[in-house]
Amino acid sequence: MIDPAWHPLLQEYVELAKNSAPRATINSIAGEATHSSWCMPRAGGPLFFARAQGTHKWDGAGRSYIDLWMGHGSLLLGNAHPVLVEAISRQVIDGQHVGGAHVLHVEWAARIRELVPSCECIRFTGSGTEATLLALRIARSFTQRPRILRLDGHFHGWHDESLAHVVPCNAGLNPGVSDWVTVVSPFDEETIIDELAQRDVAGLILEPGGGSAGSLSWSPAYLQMLRKICNSVGTLLIFDEVISGFRYAPGGVQELAGIIPDLTVLAKIAAGGMPGGLVGGRKNIMETIDDIDQQRRRFLVPHSGTFNGFPLTAASAIATLDMIGDGVVQARAEDAALSLVKAINWAGESTGVDIRAFNQSSIFHLLIGALSEGSSVEPGPAAIRLPQQNADKYTLLRCALLLEGVDCHFSHGWLSAVHSSSDIEAAAEGFSRAFKRLRNFDSFLSP
Ligand SMILES: Cc1ncc(COP(=O)(O)O)c(C=O)c1O
Repeated sequence: MIDPAWHPLLQEYVELAKNSAPRATINSIAGEATHSSWCMPRAGGPLFFARAQGTHKWDGAGRSYIDLWMGHGSLLLGNAHPVLVEAISRQVIDGQHVGGAHVLHVEWAARIRELVPSCECIRFTGSGTEATLLALRIARSFTQRPRILRLDGHFHGWHDESLAHVVPCNAGLNPGVSDWVTVVSPFDEETIIDELAQRDVAGLILEPGGGSAGSLSWSPAYLQMLRKICNSVGTLLIFDEVISGFRYAPGGVQELAGIIPDLTVLAKIAAGGMPGGLVGGRKNIMETIDDIDQQRRRFLVPHSGTFNGFPLTAASAIATLDMIGDGVVQARAEDAALSLVKAINWAGESTGVDIRAFNQSSIFHLLIGALSEGSSVEPGPAAIRLPQQNADKYTLLRCALLLEGVDCHFSHGWLSAVHSSSDIEAAAEGFSRAFKRLRNFDSFLSP
């Protein structure tokens, strides 16, 4: 629980949250919210939002916030972009679910392939988590090998294989899964090579743009090294570009690094900010999902799902992909992130609190306590360790930001192509006011 000395700030937040939704209703939701990051158990409960438009969102009581969460990074074009609203509305009228293959699937797949050529063949899923699950299944089926290699600090959703060995996130997981998933440090190249040399690894999955949404660093040379080893031992290289796809560049990190992975996982922006995801890859690998070849049935990967390729998602995705192919929106979002990071760091310096930020593409990451422990303010293990070690402080920062009209994840946030310079200015002022609240507590002060 949070230190009682912080109660005044917390009390103010509790009041804000209480007014955002009827308490009786909240009590009927397990954990009070339906995503671990929304629950706020350390602060007495979540804030409930009612609507969002462009770069702003409003809570259930009608109070407005600058949105720096942006649908967990799925809204590169902001909330309720008029072109997407039109595309989705048209599709609702034409049928929200046709109960079969839809003509939009073909158009959607063509757009993906055009921007991400390694996706020669595509299969749509209901979410990013489902897509990583499917990619691992395809890798096992194609290679006829049992083991998966993951990198520590890299996130791939919430199914058992992506959470195996993640402490303390292992409650309820199938204990047998951990025997077939090995997690290694992304910085320990020797162990990565040793594990792969055993030639029983079906797939190496990673966030090529840096683990945990770019909290960790990445480089073309590092990815090239992984590409080379995977080639030499017959392991599939799986890029989880759920975060970096269409954000770091129109063709994702694979375009920036000039690397062709065997399989790519995409969701969020790829799904037009709607529920959905996909796996794409080399044709001969993707052919393991082939419901026609009865003779090979024991190798075929089972894959169903009521909302695979959901037509409303397809309509939004196609409209999104048509607007983001030339790199202009990505550059705009990154400029906005750079300006905000500069402003946050200035606010940290001028208010004397030990909070700093860095950006990776158009995502910013917040470090509380980095200066005190001598960590540098850049992508690296501290960006993952500090939020775990200082969970109470990160919760307090989020409360202070919400009280000052800014909403982002505890330790990071997302910019879009529609965040204007006045949005950034307003957000910077919100950060500065939040930092002034926090400097009342000694433990937030810079060394
Ligand atoms: C890199 C990465 N992979 C997979 C997922 C899971 O996607 P979803 O939340 O759509 O299930 C996420 C979610 O944030 C992610 O960041």
